Amino acid sequence: MDIEIPSELIRRLQKAEHVVVLTGAGVSAESGIPTFQEARTGVWAAYDPAELATPQAFLRNPRLVWDWYAERRQEMEAAQPGPSHYALVDLEQGIPHFLLITQNIDGLHWRAGSRELLELHGNIGRCRCFDCGTYAFGWDEEGAKPPSCAHCGGLLRPDVVWFGEGLPGQQLRAAYRATEQAHLFFSVGTSAGVQPAASLPLIARRSGAYVVEINPHETALSLMADCWLRATPGAVLPVLARWVMPQTEEEDA
Ligand code: APR
Repeated sequence: MDIEIPSELIRRLQKAEHVVVLTGAGVSAESGIPTFQEARTGVWAAYDPAELATPQAFLRNPRLVWDWYAERRQEMEAAQPGPSHYALVDLEQGIPHFLLITQNIDGLHWRAGSRELLELHGNIGRCRCFDCGTYAFGWDEEGAKPPSCAHCGGLLRPDVVWFGEGLPGQQLRAAYRATEQAHLFFSVGTSAGVQPAASLPLIARRSGAYVVEINPHETALSLMADCWLRATPGAVLPVLARWVMPQTEEEDA
């Protein structure tokens, strides 16, 4: 059974010229991708992922960090986009100015077909040199771990934002700009607790947007949002997408 969407939200969605959506790990969870904490199984149970995801950890033990991310990469590449990912592609196509901002590093939004997309925390499918920053899109999986940069010989690292690192400036500025212009802002499957992404819904609200949270669990944002849809993203986004998609002749008949 479809979840009931408040009529005010439907009205706003159909009228909105500028819509911004922020997604987090809850959307990937629907594709079977474990969150950081859930990833603590097997040989990795003894490690705190937050301590592996830092530049200091990489400098201390590059092989360990490389291997951890290699396993995450395998899991993520094996996963498939889910109903939320595809519904967000439909929303992009049905709304004049749409931007999807994700904190997820799995690349599933891109694989589903989202193109108005900012991957704020990077993408695990890509590497860059720890020393010179040159990007690498392929490397010898059987060779040295981590592989070396073809440009300077430095060590390759996943192109993801680690704890204690800044976000790519250009992307962050684009995220702020779109958020300030948004008529409607959705925070989807994120605990809205990690900065600077966590500030986006607040900026949206201050700038006059109607802020909607989609999350089965309460977060710091839930009571501040104009509307909290207490459900999984996969149950809500496809229903919202139907309200903005052009009707086919068959449906019109
Ligand atoms: N379906 C929908 N939502 C879910 C599901 C699910 N199956 N499971 C969990 N959630 C919700 C949780 O209730 C939680 O509020 O998704 C949210 C996930 O929150 P976090 O695990 O904190 O993930 P996120 O907000 O994306 O974290 C932000 O922090 O760990 C760092 O850099 C990492 O990008 C990540 C950032």
